[in-house]
Amino acid sequence: MSKATGDGMSGDAARTIDTVLANASEETRATLRVLGELLGNEPSAAISPNLFACRHLGVDPMRLASTKSTGPTSSLTVLGNLLRMEIEKHGDAVVIGSPGDGLPPTWSQIEIGIDQQLAVPSRLIAFFPARTLAQPPLCVVIDDRHWQREFAILSVTADKPVAEDVLRSFRARLKTNENPLRGRVLQASVDDGCVRIGVSPALASDRAGLVLLASVWSEIDVFLASATSRRDILRRLGLGTNRGLLIAGPPGVGKTHLVRVIGAELAGRYTTILADANSMRHTIADLYAEADTFGPTLVVLDDIDLVLGHRDGSGNNAPLADFLATLDGVRQREDILTIATTNDPKSLDPAAQRSSRFDMVVTLPMPDEASRIGILERHLGPLNLPLDIPALARILEGASGADVKEVVRRAVLEHGESFTQQQLADIAESGRWKAALNRRRYL
Ligand SMILES: Nc1ncnc2c1ncn2[C@@H]1O[C@H](COP(=O)(O)OP(=O)(O)OP(=O)(O)O)[C@@H](O)[C@H]1O
Ligand SMILES: [Mg+2]
Repeated sequence: MSKATGDGMSGDAARTIDTVLANASEETRATLRVLGELLGNEPSAAISPNLFACRHLGVDPMRLASTKSTGPTSSLTVLGNLLRMEIEKHGDAVVIGSPGDGLPPTWSQIEIGIDQQLAVPSRLIAFFPARTLAQPPLCVVIDDRHWQREFAILSVTADKPVAEDVLRSFRARLKTNENPLRGRVLQASVDDGCVRIGVSPALASDRAGLVLLASVWSEIDVFLASATSRRDILRRLGLGTNRGLLIAGPPGVGKTHLVRVIGAELAGRYTTILADANSMRHTIADLYAEADTFGPTLVVLDDIDLVLGHRDGSGNNAPLADFLATLDGVRQREDILTIATTNDPKSLDPAAQRSSRFDMVVTLPMPDEASRIGILERHLGPLNLPLDIPALARILEGASGADVKEVVRRAVLEHGESFTQQQLADIAESGRWKAALNRRRYL
């Protein structure tokens, strides 16, 4: 019967004061709002989003339709960003309401780069009158509280197909440049049981800062070719552009540094998601679901051995099972690269290592003498001190890249920017830097 939509002319029970309000000019609405508050009307934060929508859409609750978006958690932030753009575009016409539970509308900051932030709606409802977001009037609800996280479009039941279209177009826009996180190096973290994704605070690094054997770099180049020079031909031949690389090596040889370099090299074309043990443990499947939102994606599973060890006595290992199932699913998609790092590939369950999951295994050895010289030169070079670096590199036989760096750090901490060969050699020989060897979490 009633079609209390944007024209508000139905004349039946749905034609309430709210219908009139919804169709009034912004000035009239603002005036009436102030009058209402002066007359002691209920504060707007006490109204639930559904009630807000009923009032603005001029419909009774029985004829209110909700069209919800399902998807991974961090896409909610990016959807919030699109909502911000729509709110700004339609300016004064949009009415913002409370997310319910007596809370005010809330906006939160997302990091989109070093010192670059955007304020995006995180909990609120926004009413878009007719002919703004779509032909009929619609409300958009966003709520990032984890127990009720949602992004939904509320409409009159008859307008549900329009709401579905609007939601589809929002989701499609996630895969365009309107997603400010695409093509960047992101860090996944776990907060309140949800995986959240933000721009990685660590500065991008390049190959010059990492001293590795030429043979290691050429293996890395082969791996990267599936995302760069060989991507098109792989596709044409139906060979797939998904690759898995396992980087193995003892602690402190530069595995994490290497994946950051790779992420930085792919930036722009690929979005890199760096996952630590905690976010992996929580939900590997979610991480790959995020990948869908970010287009071509490199997922980095750092220190995978901490999460995917062996099955227990009864053959159970839930994170491992999750991981294997997820990677099998990923095989169906294009443009997903996975890099995992581990101290000890043997500590991984053989199933996780099977070549179908990791196409390549690259082992980073402890740095040889020439590499130790390279690392020392890199860190000591800027100080311009008269030092015999090859002699120091010989003393540091058996040290990892991280250890070599730590020796220089100790010298700077103890002596500032000027120290002698002897002072540096003392630190190197004393083994005080060896504390670094214990920093792993083996206990
Ligand atoms: N070959 C290297 N060249 C230059 N720097 C290096 C090298 N190896 C390690 N480093 C430095 O040592 C530090 C530790 O390296 P990184 O965290 O990448 O090691 P890792 O192999 O991931 O260790 P872990 O197994 O403990 O996670 C970093 O600051 C890194 O820059
Ligand atoms: Mg590491």
